[in-house]
Order: sequence, then structure tokens, then C-alpha cells
Amino acid sequence: MVATETAGTADQPGESGRAGRPSHPVLRARRLTRHFKVGGTFGRRTLHAVDDVDLVIGEREIVALVGESGSGKSTVARLLALLYPVTAGDIEFRGQPVASLRSRRRKLDYRRRVQMVFQDPFSSLSPVYPISHGLLRALILHRPELSRTARREEAERLLELVGLTPAREMLQKYPYELSGGQRQRVGFAAALACRPEVILADEPVSMLDVSIRIGLLNLMAELRERAGVSFLYITHDLASARYVADRMMVMYAGHVVESGPSEEVLTAPRHPYTQLLLAAAPDPWAPLGEAAEGDYGEPPKVVDPGEGCRFRPRCPLAVSACENITPRLTELGPGHSAACHVAADPALR
Ligand SMILES: Nc1ncnc2c1ncn2[C@@H]1O[C@H](COP(=O)(O)OP(=O)(O)O)[C@@H](O)[C@H]1O
Ligand SMILES: [Mg+2]
Repeated sequence: MVATETAGTADQPGESGRAGRPSHPVLRARRLTRHFKVGGTFGRRTLHAVDDVDLVIGEREIVALVGESGSGKSTVARLLALLYPVTAGDIEFRGQPVASLRSRRRKLDYRRRVQMVFQDPFSSLSPVYPISHGLLRALILHRPELSRTARREEAERLLELVGLTPAREMLQKYPYELSGGQRQRVGFAAALACRPEVILADEPVSMLDVSIRIGLLNLMAELRERAGVSFLYITHDLASARYVADRMMVMYAGHVVESGPSEEVLTAPRHPYTQLLLAAAPDPWAPLGEAAEGDYGEPPKVVDPGEGCRFRPRCPLAVSACENITPRLTELGPGHSAACHVAADPALR
């Protein structure tokens, strides 16, 4: 049988959430697609950065989006943050469509509730001001009801929340006085100043030393508990995704090729690409960090793709169906889906 239906698994994040936590969809995307025009006046072509991505992030859930560089992870985050318009597809926040929001006020409200944290916190901190500056500015913009004193107290509370203490002293520091890990904590504090419900964290620990990464991952887990935030955690590192995420989505060349509970995706991967990633990681069960620098090779640039599986040229299991029918995500186990003809029907092998 050739899989052609999208599985319903992405609709039930709670079922697979850690410790069976009941979970309502907070952010949901359906068939999210983003293309870019590339090339000169002659021979303009279309790069498919993201195609048909379905995703759901539940209440207080941490969902990892994993894939090698160029697979479309940041584009997904930018689409969800409304930094890029979608080429096609829908985004819903708490049941309300957002991809087509026209009103400035509603866009601003959405952007407050869905925050982004980037890989390099240095780039978002002004070097000429102490860190209090950015935090207070975010509070003035997003929480104008706070008095001056209340703002100051809130800034201190936020720094404590992200583990930067003594908060009063930390507020006076300049970015260059902080370590990379501390700067990324400031990045989280600035996002939290808006009281977000979702944080889209795009490779937040990739630039940090292995030894400090785990502290930041623990911070995300704590913020989910203490501030009730849900996370999309973007990474190319399977070990960190396994460490922190309830569910995992694996991207390849703009498509989600596998999704499911993290532990299960890693112990029983169904898609040959996930199997390859695991084989390439030195040891995904090793203490965090040791497996972090896996080199998975180059993903293709997806320019004017035809039908068929995009992983086909690298796939040891490819059969003729893979050449002309694009596999869709299909549920193969409880909450566990893969987009692979052969995984869906082992008789094809
Ligand atoms: N603004 C853009 N213009 C043209 N191509 C882009 C743009 N942004 C991303 N891309 C392309 O889209 C693909 C996915 O990129 P990206 O989402 O940044 O991947 P990842 O975050 O997984 O490394 C890449 O081939 C990249 O070159
Ligand atoms: Mg990226």
C-alpha cells in the first residue's frame, strides 16, 4: 500500500505528551508552505524551503524540530512568528487563524504571545546599554500598565526566573561582561517579558559550549513548568532534542519525514533518514553534548522539485514508487508517523 493520507497524529499532542500530560493545541499549522524565487531575470526558479508541514504544539509541550542545516527549520519558525508570509497553508493560535491577520493590533498581540529566541543572543543585545535597557523597553512596549517601580521589579523577577542572580547586579551588566550562556538566558528573559505562551527557540544552544548547553535545556524545561510556556525547540542535535522534548519532528528538504514521541522516534525510528541520522550521531545515548556535532552530510537544495520522495537519492531502501509519488506522513504506531512508502508497507522491500 502506498501512503497518501496525512495521519491524524499531529492532532493529538496530549496523547504522547510526557507523563500523559493533558494537552490542548496552542499553536497549530496545516500544510505550511514557503517558497522563494531564486535565480536571475532569465531562468527564475522556485526554491521549496518548506512544503506541507503540519504541526501542533500543545499546552506546556516542548516539541523539537530536528534536521540538518538547510532542511527548512528556521523558515518554519519564521513563518510561525509571522516574519515571512506563507506561500500556502494555515496557522492557528488557540483556534484562531493568524496567517492572514491584517490588523496591526492583532498582529502585535500575536507577536507578543508567540516569541522567538535566536541562536546568537549577542546579535539581539545592544552592546552600548546594560541589559536592563532591553528588558525595560520590552516591558514598556508590552506591559504599559506597569509603573516605573513595578517595571524594575519585574525585570529583576525575570532575571531570577532565568537563573541570573543576584538579579539587581545582573541588570547593570553589559553584554560583553556576560558569558555566552548568560547572554542566552537574557535572551529568554527578554522573550518572557512579553508573557508569551509559546517560545520558538531557533538553535538556542548551538553556539554555546557543550558544558553550558544542558543548563539552558533545563531552563526551558523549568520555564515550561513555572511560566507555563510551550516551546518549539529547533536543533540539529538529536541528543538535546531527546533530552528536553516530549515530541520530535524530523525535517528533510522542506518536508517533515517523521514525528512522534521523542523516545520512540529515537528507539524505533521508522524513516530511513532518521535511521541515518542516528547512525551518523556518534552515540545518541551518550551524555548530552558528546553526540552534538554529528555531521550528517549535505541536504539538497530543493529547487523546482517534481513528485517523489526527496530523500530518494540518499535512501538505501528506495523503490520505484519513491520516484514518482511523494510519501505523506502516515501513522505507523500510536502517535508515531513517517512519510515513507517502504516504512508504511514493508512488503515493498
Ligand atoms: N530568504 C531566503 N531566500 C532564499 N532562500 C532562502 C531564504 N531563507 C531560507 N532559504 C533557503 O531555504 C532553505 C531552508 O533554509 P532554513 O529554513 O534556513 O534551513 P535550516 O534552518 O534548517 O538550516 C535553504 O535552502 C535556504 O537556503
Ligand atoms: Mg536555521
